[in-house]
Amino acid sequence: MSALSISDFQRRVEGLRELPSLPAILLPVLNQLSRDADDIDLQKTAQLVSHDGALTAQVLHMANSPLFGMGQRVSTVRAAALTLGISRLRDIVTACCLMQISPKGDYNAASFWEHSLACALISRNLARKLNYGDIERAYLAGLVHDLGILVNMLLIPKEFARVFKIAAESQRPLREVEIEQYGISHEVTGDLLSTHWHLFDYLSEVMRRHHDVERATLDPVLTAIVNIADLLCRTSGLGYGYLENIQVTLQEEYAWKVIAAQSPRFRTLDMACFTMEIESYVKEVRTLISVLFRI
Ligand SMILES: [Fe+2]
Ligand SMILES: [Fe+2]
Repeated sequence: MSALSISDFQRRVEGLRELPSLPAILLPVLNQLSRDADDIDLQKTAQLVSHDGALTAQVLHMANSPLFGMGQRVSTVRAAALTLGISRLRDIVTACCLMQISPKGDYNAASFWEHSLACALISRNLARKLNYGDIERAYLAGLVHDLGILVNMLLIPKEFARVFKIAAESQRPLREVEIEQYGISHEVTGDLLSTHWHLFDYLSEVMRRHHDVERATLDPVLTAIVNIADLLCRTSGLGYGYLENIQVTLQEEYAWKVIAAQSPRFRTLDMACFTMEIESYVKEVRTLISVLFRI
């Protein structure tokens, strides 16, 4: 397989109609739901969500699910928001919006979103432990960090399928095989997508540098948080749908050192406790995804 140049990708990104557009509802809803609980206008949020039929159906489905519901059937977004709570509503809205852009194909989209959601939850947890200023920023960064993978599925589906097959069969990191096979990795295409979508700079940086934290300049701590969350997911069975044969000692990772420098608590973190917390996320994410994908 010949290497693909960045400019070639850029041309494809700019010229391709299928490149997903940012779901229009996402930013206004996040804008509402990112406020302090007392400032959230539930009525306005419910109205925004109600404009999107698919999203409304997902939210109602979640609120009526025995896993998340309170045993009472709800039929409006407002009632669903009260049942689910603001925090879970935000998680569901964000995930549903982004999942709408999943390409159709044989790739296991549920696995991709399992990884992304787990990464979002763990990033938020790490951010909280670290007293990072904006924990929702960490959640969003974790959720979108690998969107370049979706771009590759859309722009170069055949090449991507081949790369994925090689990576899964050899249990190697996807990124390594991407670079080996087509000379470019999902961080580069993620960055192109974030430019196309005019995403916040801090999200662009995470999408571009989450495997290369040394080169993050805008918000290295956030990029380090997502890097560690990504590693934790991939070593806890929440990778891309196959088991990677990688050995990771977190404390030796550059990103861990960035985090530890920021928060002395991390130097003495009880890893056993931390791992148990991660395991609870694994269950939460699997449940959420199984409900969202109805599997
Ligand atoms: Fe990645
Ligand atoms: Fe990842």
